[in-house]
Amino acid sequence: MEQAKGLRKVVKTQALSRRKSNMASDKKNFPRVIAVTSGKGGVGKTNIVGNMAVYLSQMGKRVVIIDADVGLANIDIIFNLRPEYSIRHVVSCEKKLDQVMVESDHGIKILPGGSGFADLTQLNEGEKLNLLSEFETLSDQADVIFVDTGAGISSNVLYFNCACDECVVVATSEPTSITDAYAMMKVMSQEYGTKYFKLIVNMVDSVAEAKRVYASLSGALDKFLKNVVLEYVGHIPFDKQLQQAVKNRGLLMDKTPDSMAAKAIGDIALNLGNSPIRTDANGNITFFMSKVFQTVT
Ligand SMILES: Nc1ncnc2c1ncn2[C@@H]1O[C@H](COP(=O)(O)OP(=O)(O)OP(=O)(O)O)[C@@H](O)[C@H]1O
Ligand SMILES: [Mg+2]
Repeated sequence: MEQAKGLRKVVKTQALSRRKSNMASDKKNFPRVIAVTSGKGGVGKTNIVGNMAVYLSQMGKRVVIIDADVGLANIDIIFNLRPEYSIRHVVSCEKKLDQVMVESDHGIKILPGGSGFADLTQLNEGEKLNLLSEFETLSDQADVIFVDTGAGISSNVLYFNCACDECVVVATSEPTSITDAYAMMKVMSQEYGTKYFKLIVNMVDSVAEAKRVYASLSGALDKFLKNVVLEYVGHIPFDKQLQQAVKNRGLLMDKTPDSMAAKAIGDIALNLGNSPIRTDANGNITFFMSKVFQTVT
């Protein structure tokens, strides 16, 4: 109990001093922290994050990916990396964050999660404090931080979603994907007060198909969840070349950057990067983690 109070105090002090130094210098740009999530699994989150990261790094942005996905197709596979350690080793104080992060050929830094990703609700206060100060070091290393949250409404997914500056939901036109995306936004808005979401529709054959998915989701939100806003950021066509790239443990953006899907993902990355942040978050990673922990404690 006392420890929890102590943690909240440290978090508040850190957030406050960050804000002050942000205002004082006015030069410091904190990274934008973007969660990419979905209700149903297998809708393309990991590939979208990986390819957006490559695109933005080619544009000169410093990109970090936090892999919070415990699914089978982890981000390190499509980057063809074989990380030795994961965030579990940071939590247990066996390793520092910079010893655990791996770097792709593009210069993208990846924090591996894998099956070792700890349930944040189960961490003790000391572990949370340690993780918080380790994450602080990311603030200076990135312009954009993508969090590949995994699918569904498990506690970690929800915590990550509500902690990020923005929550991007990926859905396909399959009815189960649409209903699960709705269910995820419903829980996020009712339990965590998130009122603003962005939508990417993946694996579609036409713009009209993507717009139907958006209309169906935003219609349901308007009807049943007042005050929740869903913004359409774009769609990605079904593209066999993406599947081929995955089979070869690679990324579409590297293998066929001129493909329809790669171009669509590039446009979406730009769109996300250029749009104003619609939350009160100031985008620094400490603030991000502190929000995670404040939700947990
Ligand atoms: N635009 C696309 N066109 C064709 N196939 C796609 C497209 N996007 C994704 N896929 C296929 O869907 C598979 C799953 O993609 P991915 O692993 O990125 O989904 P995910 O949402 O991260 O899954 P999980 O919920 O398990 O983490 C890919 O391996 C690929 O075969
Ligand atoms: Mg995934």
